Amino acid sequence: MSTTPTPAASVLLESLRGIVGPTHVLVGDDLVAPYVTDWTRRYSGPCVAVVRPASTLEVSSVLAACSAAGQPVLVQGGNTGLVGGSVPASSGKAPVILSTRRLSSIGAVDQLTGQVTAGAGALLSAVQDAASAAGWVYGVDLAARDSATIGGTVATNAGGVNVIAYGMTRAQVVGIEAVLADGTVILHLNGLLKDNTGFDFGSLLCGSEGTLGVITAVRLRLHHPHARTSLAMVGCATYGDALALMSASARRSLLIAAEMVDAIGIELMDSVLGIPSPLASSWPVVAFIEVADGGDASGLPLNDSHDAVVAFDAGEQARLWQFRERQTEVYGAKGICHKLDVSVPLSRMEEVLADLGSLLRDAPTVEFYGLFGHIADGNIHVEFIGPAADDVEVDHQVLEVISRYSGSISAEHGVGRMKVDSLHLTRSAAEIAAMKAIKDALDPAGLLNQGILFPTA
Ligand code: FAD
Ligand code: LAC
Ligand code: ZN
Repeated sequence: MSTTPTPAASVLLESLRGIVGPTHVLVGDDLVAPYVTDWTRRYSGPCVAVVRPASTLEVSSVLAACSAAGQPVLVQGGNTGLVGGSVPASSGKAPVILSTRRLSSIGAVDQLTGQVTAGAGALLSAVQDAASAAGWVYGVDLAARDSATIGGTVATNAGGVNVIAYGMTRAQVVGIEAVLADGTVILHLNGLLKDNTGFDFGSLLCGSEGTLGVITAVRLRLHHPHARTSLAMVGCATYGDALALMSASARRSLLIAAEMVDAIGIELMDSVLGIPSPLASSWPVVAFIEVADGGDASGLPLNDSHDAVVAFDAGEQARLWQFRERQTEVYGAKGICHKLDVSVPLSRMEEVLADLGSLLRDAPTVEFYGLFGHIADGNIHVEFIGPAADDVEVDHQVLEVISRYSGSISAEHGVGRMKVDSLHLTRSAAEIAAMKAIKDALDPAGLLNQGILFPTA
């Protein structure tokens, strides 16, 4: 919902209308509704207005006006974030939501360097399509591709299914344009691969979750596509078997993706979406292994004892991938889902998952739980339903288990609002203090993305 404007807020809104045009300052509950509740439905809060600038200059003017008025600002891209960072807090001073969706231009692909410049509001799928139309591939892919923006994926340093092949979003960023809280524009989009002239703002802003500045454009590196890949969906008795299959595949071929879904997730595909598993039996773990440049028929180390389906063409591969890609959707269909996104050392994965299994099985508030994720990256998504949206006890217990194994409390979704109180489990006090010093230097009044990554002052 939007708040009733105070006289000071009314003056600010008038000035924002002058900057972006009256139709791009949204007030009123109906108009702001899509912007104030997050994808998980766990997080929601009021805003003063939603402002939709269409250029870097407009972003700069909006931030300068808000800064002069002492008005907090929340940055939003596609609102597909899963840690409460894309929507206002339920309490505290309501922010102006700055939506980047109109910054959606995508430049021509530079065939010499294999790079492209995209506006922060360009959809991930639009960048993927532009790359592919020019004979290249963009290295980041995730199920929210048709709603997530490039700016959002950079701000969260998004991962996805191809990290093992191409790296996280940070590895794709070769230049950035951003606007600081006071309206100052920092522009470094020349795309030079070698440029050792001090701090790399692109790297700094990757994973900053909107706390340091508003990303307005990004220069991205593209990759050469693989002519042919093979994807196998394979039933495994244990996580260890899935990891062994992944490792054997990587020794034989180029690994493009290695993912997993447990028996609960495969069953939900049938019960929620009516899509039964193509495997002959039900398995505790189902692995999805995609390889390129295999050399022989599939490039996959499979034999007759495996319960597996192998797909070569894009349509068949998409049919198998949906069992992995639609996991967030099928859990969401069962209720308000607690979603944790952790990474653990691959060598400890079986032990960690056994510990998490007993914790979740014994937790009195948990009705059911399941695991899926990116095994190649040691990144497991832990999903459970039962505790109320604001009951974080089991969430904390899961993260404590992860910290005991030297894992990370966020492999890819970020800290957002959800994990502010747990950040110390993964980062030392000295690291958190250094991060806060950078935040204070770039946003001294603390107006950008309050309560995200750092507690509200
Ligand atoms: P938003 O949700 O709008 O914002 C996310 C955060 O970034 C917020 O803190 C926001 O303030 C900040 N932000 C957004 N734009 C900017 C900007 N221009 N400048 C500064 N800050 C900004 N994530 C993964 O990493 N891997 C996955 O595999 C994955 N799969 C997903 C599947 C589904 C079905 C869904 C719903 C989500 C998934 N996500 C995944 C999470 C989400 O898609 C990513 O975090 C994505 O990067 C968010 O992009 P967005 O544009 O929606 O950002
Ligand atoms: C995925 C999201 C939840 O991997 O990160 O499906
Ligand atoms: Zn993921």
